[in-house]
Amino acid sequence: MYQLNSETPADWWEVEALYDLCFAPAREALSSYRLRDGVPPVPGLSLLARDGDGILAGAIRYWPVRIGTRYAVLLGPVAVHPTRQGEGLGGVLIRDGNAAAAAQGWSRVLLVGDYDYYRRFGFERLRGVAMPPPTNPERVLGLPLVDGAWSGVTGKVERAPEAIYPAG
Ligand SMILES: CC(C)(COP(=O)(O)OP(=O)(O)OC[C@H]1O[C@@H](n2cnc3c(N)ncnc32)[C@H](O)[C@@H]1OP(=O)(O)O)[C@@H](O)C(=O)NCCC(=O)NCCS
Repeated sequence: MYQLNSETPADWWEVEALYDLCFAPAREALSSYRLRDGVPPVPGLSLLARDGDGILAGAIRYWPVRIGTRYAVLLGPVAVHPTRQGEGLGGVLIRDGNAAAAAQGWSRVLLVGDYDYYRRFGFERLRGVAMPPPTNPERVLGLPLVDGAWSGVTGKVERAPEAIYPAG
């Protein structure tokens, strides 16, 4: 019913429009966007879901970030069109995106979001990992892609240089 593909440069503004529709106005004022300023998303991890008519139904992107001397991928934005929510598409995008990150060799995924939604994918609250303010620390969540990948990782989350691709 839906086809998943990697995002191409031609898809960029269509995905931006979906994010504008799905998130509150001024989404780019969110502190997590300061980690994306001037940094391209991680190549190969941005996924789109289109229906049989080619209509965009959902999208996910990831950015690289640094915590001290360690790296992570920051999951998001992820969004599913309001008329397509609750069909499992968000879960497919998140699981496939995380699997692609693991396949690229990334060790850990970070995000800012609702624990009640993301815990089903294995995310746990991170203690001692500080997103740029203002961020509610209860919404800072992490998923290890290899055993113990978050243990001992603490500090401020900062923008990561592109030079760390393909994996941090
Ligand atoms: C969050 C989002 C991507 C989920 O996509 P989706 O395709 O609807 O998700 P799924 O179908 O895989 O899962 C739906 C389930 O998640 C639950 N859920 C969705 N958002 C939730 C939230 N914020 N907190 C708790 N549960 C949530 C739904 O109630 C539903 O529960 P059910 O399975 O018990 O019925 C989508 O709702 C969306 O685009 N929201 C607006 C943008 C957004 O908030 N993005 C995430 C930013 S952190």
